[in-house]
Amino acid sequence: MPTLDEQRQQAALAWLASGCELSIGDASRLPCPPEALAALTPSSTGVHRHVASGLTGDVYELRLHGQHLAVKVARTESRVRNLDGETAFVNELLRHQELATARDAGAALPGILHAHYGSLRHRLLVTPWVDGGPPDLSDARVLRQLFNTGVHLHLAGHFEWDWSPGNLLDDGQQVWLFDFGYQYRFDPLTQFNSAGDGLSCPQHHLVERLGARCVFAALLDTETTWGLAAAVAQFTQFQALGLAAMQLLHAQLAQRGAQAKPLQTLQDWRSKAGTALACDPATAYRCEGWVAHLTDVLDDLHGQSCDPRTLQRLDWLQQVLHQHAAALQAAGLLNQPPSAMQAQLLQYQAQAQQWQLAPGGSAR
Ligand SMILES: Nc1ncnc2c1ncn2[C@@H]1O[C@H](COP(=O)(O)OP(=O)(O)O)[C@@H](O)[C@H]1O
Ligand SMILES: [Mg+2]
Repeated sequence: MPTLDEQRQQAALAWLASGCELSIGDASRLPCPPEALAALTPSSTGVHRHVASGLTGDVYELRLHGQHLAVKVARTESRVRNLDGETAFVNELLRHQELATARDAGAALPGILHAHYGSLRHRLLVTPWVDGGPPDLSDARVLRQLFNTGVHLHLAGHFEWDWSPGNLLDDGQQVWLFDFGYQYRFDPLTQFNSAGDGLSCPQHHLVERLGARCVFAALLDTETTWGLAAAVAQFTQFQALGLAAMQLLHAQLAQRGAQAKPLQTLQDWRSKAGTALACDPATAYRCEGWVAHLTDVLDDLHGQSCDPRTLQRLDWLQQVLHQHAAALQAAGLLNQPPSAMQAQLLQYQAQAQQWQLAPGGSAR
C-alpha cells in the first residue's frame, strides 16, 4: 500500500506530466493579463519590490491600477532538491483551489491568505500583498492566531508542514500564512496527519510542526541573547497555548465524529506534553528542542537546502548532548550511545556546511 506521501507525489507528478492547465480565480480581475505578470522583471512598471529569497520562485510587490498584489512567478526548477520541492508549486495551487472551495462552503479559515489568481501554465500565483513583518513568537496574540489557523486547517483536512517564518507575515492585527507548497491533504476523522498511512507517524502534529519550523529557531535567539530562563519561559508559553489548541482540536474532532485512533493519538500527546511541562519545564524545553532541531536539520539535509540557522541548530544539539545526555537518554531520545551521536552530529555539520544555499535563499 503506497503511503499518503507517495500517493500525493504521484498525483502531483501526473498533473505535471499531463500538461493540463490548473487555474484558480478570475484572470479578468487582474490589473494586466497573466502573460504580462509572468514576464515581470524588477524594473517592470508597478513593481515596488522584488523578493528573491523564496525557494520556489520570485515574488514581486506590484502596485498597478489601484491593486496591491504579491505576484509569485515559480521557477521551473525548485531550489529544494527533492520530489516535494519539485512538486511544491502544483501542490500549492491545488491547496488554494481546495481552500477556496472550502471557504465558499462556509469553512472558517482564519489567517489563511486567499489567492486572487493562480495558473500552472503561467507558473503564477497572485495574492493580496500583506503589509507586515515577521511574527514575534514571544507574543501570545501571535501564537494564539497561529494555533487557531492550524486547528482550522486540520479540521479542513489540510496538514501544514512548513510553518517557517518566511511563510508568515504579521500585519499587526492578524498573522497570515501564505505559502502552501508543503501543505498536504488527509482525512481528519480517520487520520492524524498526512504522513505514512495517516496514523503511523504520530510524532508529527501542529505543535511539533510550529515548533520545528518556527518557534525553536526563535528560541535559539532568545537563549543566546537573554539566557536559558528566558528561553524556557517562552517555550512554556508556546507549549501551554499549544496544549489549549490541541484540547480545542480534540473537542472539535470528537464532535464531528472522528474515529477513536486519531483522537487517542491526540490525547496521548496531550497527557505526555502536559505532564512533562508541569514536572520540569527546562527538561521539557531541552527534550522538545532536541527533537525539533534534529527534525529540522534532517529536513534541510534531505532537501540540500541548508543555511546558517542549520549550523546554529547543530551547535545547540551538540551542546545539549554534551551537557544533558542523561536526560535525553531518560526520555528515550537517544537510540545510540552519546559518543556515537556526537559523531553523527559532526557528520551532519560537515554536510550542512557543504549544502549552504547562496545568501538570500533560505526561506522555503
Ligand atoms: N502575499 C504576500 N505579501 C507579502 N509578501 C509576500 C507575499 N507572498 C510572498 N511574499 C514574500 O515573498 C517571499 C517568498 O514567498 P513564498 O510564497 O514563501 O515563496 P516560496 O514558495 O518560494 O517559499 C516571502 O517570504 C515573503 O517575503
Ligand atoms: Mg515560502
